[in-house]
Amino acid sequence: MVTCHPLLSAICLLASFAASSATIGIDDPSLDAKVEALLRQMTPEEKVAQLVQYPIGQPTGPETGLVDLDSMIARGQVGALLGTAPVRRINTYQRLAMQGSRLHIPLLFGLDVIHGYRTVFPIPLGLASSWDTALIERTARVAAREASAAGIRWTFSPMVDIARDARWGRIAESAGEDPYLGSQIAAAYVRGYQGARLDAPDSLAACAKHFVGYGAAEGGRDYNTTEISEHTLREIYLPPFHAAVSTGAASLMSAFNALNGVPASANRFTLTQVLREEWGFRGLVDSDWLAVAQLIPHGIAINGADAAEKAFESGVDMDMTSGLYHRHLLDLIEAGRISPARLDESVRRVLRVKLALGLLEHPYTDESQESGAMLQPAAVVLAREAAERSFVLLKNADVGGKPILPLSDSVRHVALIGPLADDVTDMLGSWPGAGRGEDVVTLRQSFEERLGNRRLRYALGTGLTEGSDAAMRRAMRDTLRADVIVMALGESHAMSGEAASRANLTLPGRQQELLEKMVATGKPVVLILFSGRPLTLPWAFEKVPAVIAAWAPGIQVGPALMRTLFGESNPSGRLTVSWPRSVGQLPLYYNALNTGRPRNNPTEKQYVTGYLDEELTPQFPFGFGLSYTTFDYGPTQLSRQRLHVSTAEGLTATARVTNTGSRAGSEVVQLYVRLQGTSTAQPVRALKGFQNIVLAPGESRTATFQLPSETLAVWDIHNRYAVEPARATVWIAPDSARGKGAELEIVP
Ligand code: GLC
Repeated sequence: MVTCHPLLSAICLLASFAASSATIGIDDPSLDAKVEALLRQMTPEEKVAQLVQYPIGQPTGPETGLVDLDSMIARGQVGALLGTAPVRRINTYQRLAMQGSRLHIPLLFGLDVIHGYRTVFPIPLGLASSWDTALIERTARVAAREASAAGIRWTFSPMVDIARDARWGRIAESAGEDPYLGSQIAAAYVRGYQGARLDAPDSLAACAKHFVGYGAAEGGRDYNTTEISEHTLREIYLPPFHAAVSTGAASLMSAFNALNGVPASANRFTLTQVLREEWGFRGLVDSDWLAVAQLIPHGIAINGADAAEKAFESGVDMDMTSGLYHRHLLDLIEAGRISPARLDESVRRVLRVKLALGLLEHPYTDESQESGAMLQPAAVVLAREAAERSFVLLKNADVGGKPILPLSDSVRHVALIGPLADDVTDMLGSWPGAGRGEDVVTLRQSFEERLGNRRLRYALGTGLTEGSDAAMRRAMRDTLRADVIVMALGESHAMSGEAASRANLTLPGRQQELLEKMVATGKPVVLILFSGRPLTLPWAFEKVPAVIAAWAPGIQVGPALMRTLFGESNPSGRLTVSWPRSVGQLPLYYNALNTGRPRNNPTEKQYVTGYLDEELTPQFPFGFGLSYTTFDYGPTQLSRQRLHVSTAEGLTATARVTNTGSRAGSEVVQLYVRLQGTSTAQPVRALKGFQNIVLAPGESRTATFQLPSETLAVWDIHNRYAVEPARATVWIAPDSARGKGAELEIVP
């Protein structure tokens, strides 16, 4: 007997409430009759066409055995397209489909709208660092309005893969390492994209990806094998997908990776047993790009027909770009290898999404709306706010008796040095949608606007991957009059994202050399670190007085950093990934099991887990981030010290939080739980709640968390979720490494 993860059912309850009270989508019962009425009229050829997805603009010439895209669309052989095109072109394709196909079934247009369409927000790892689901939902709503005005009605987002290894480039697209936070964020994106009604013209069908386990790639190497026990699948990797499904996500995307020996795009256990039979998901599953064809190199298919059969039978409804469903499904049905009933299942799902979007009634996009929808002033302000909230202040040491940040406006001369101070492309990060460099306000532009050319000297110093001695010398000269040196260093947009794993996480090129030269001047240095992942920079974290993780902040990077550096905005970002000291520590995550030889072993010092040549702890822990003020936490208090396993309402946890500094600040108050004595080993801490609270200087507030019993459930020895007798420790803390826990006995 398997039920929905109770932690998830709490989220599902919230999400389904949100969904039921707001989102009319694929579960709308009024769709059933329409779907059946259409399905009854369709021929097998027309049914297969609904499962075929091609890229816009991709050659489909004679060498592929397929005629050109336009004529295939006109003959009703295509169900969906993906990629960017002017809205006029999209309407042309749609007209071809509507007029050319017998039943006038519209095409579904999809695109990777990952962190904004034309208004580009911080990359998802940055947005997640805000720990603000309402903010994230707002950014997704803007993305939906802009993308739908451009003819797109389906986004291949949110990416909800749990990421525990910073070598993996796609950590940039993730919400980080925690399933609870990842679930909350997944639900927020779905609500933002799909809006109050999926059939509203400014709604996008969401597509939670990559189902499932993609982030567990061995060695952090993209597309690599994953071995994930069912226990870890259930506790770590599946929850964010369940949250997306429970929030009404219209689709999922099946992943590239082999999962326990079976490729995720041919994995019946996940695609059918979990997703359909357990969760009751009624939306469509689209394969990832060519993932159906990749079953051949994976070694489980010997040819295209075999690949098509295995992907389809496992539960992949639509074939993204391989053309194998187009070429083989009909033959497989005629040969009796695939049943007509199984074909109808997938076609229903596709029709359900198209009907839920209102595409049959409104297949075309009003072309007059496109330009006015882009970069609206409120969207640009939101982009700046989101960037400010994404920044994580990692270090802010005293210089001259006080923290170096925020800078005072009395600072006379600033030297701005580094390859990312005036770059537009890298600020957009990976998957920039329809973002344009011309829309980016760079750090240099904003500094010049604030200080003027007389007080600001800018120098490249070195390129991202290479640089000359002469350029370094010029930069050194530009620091001579500086009161403070601000450095903009890190990774290019191409050094993270897909197919961008790195085996070393240092600063590329000669950037470290440049940084050391700047620190050697003896002048105060502030390092702004732009990257798609944590970087292993122990020297910098020791020697540089202030470091801000800025990720890839999007189009408003300059204004957001100005407000942060000069204190109009008090940084409130918190890490959603454990920050490694060295690559050797990876994969690294806070919610780890204790092992039988833990480091904090009172009796054993040598034969314990750890490294001879590296710390066991991260450089900075999950949940960490500094502020320009300070916060103090009172003891965690529980409404009860004993809890019966069947007591549904659980308990209440509270702690007094005080702003002990001289500035107002926003604090992410975090709730963690540890369970001991359970039938399966549980993490040393697991996030079960968080709250953003804003406190004025000196202000105190009691943070209160309701902890329903079901959020204390574990995936037990019998392969089900259950609340078990246990000794629980509960922390209300500023991050995953601090705080004094309160004890609770869960009794049978
Ligand atoms: C890519 C990515 C996937 C993306 C898809 C369509 O290979 O893996 O995240 O949505 O293709 O661009």
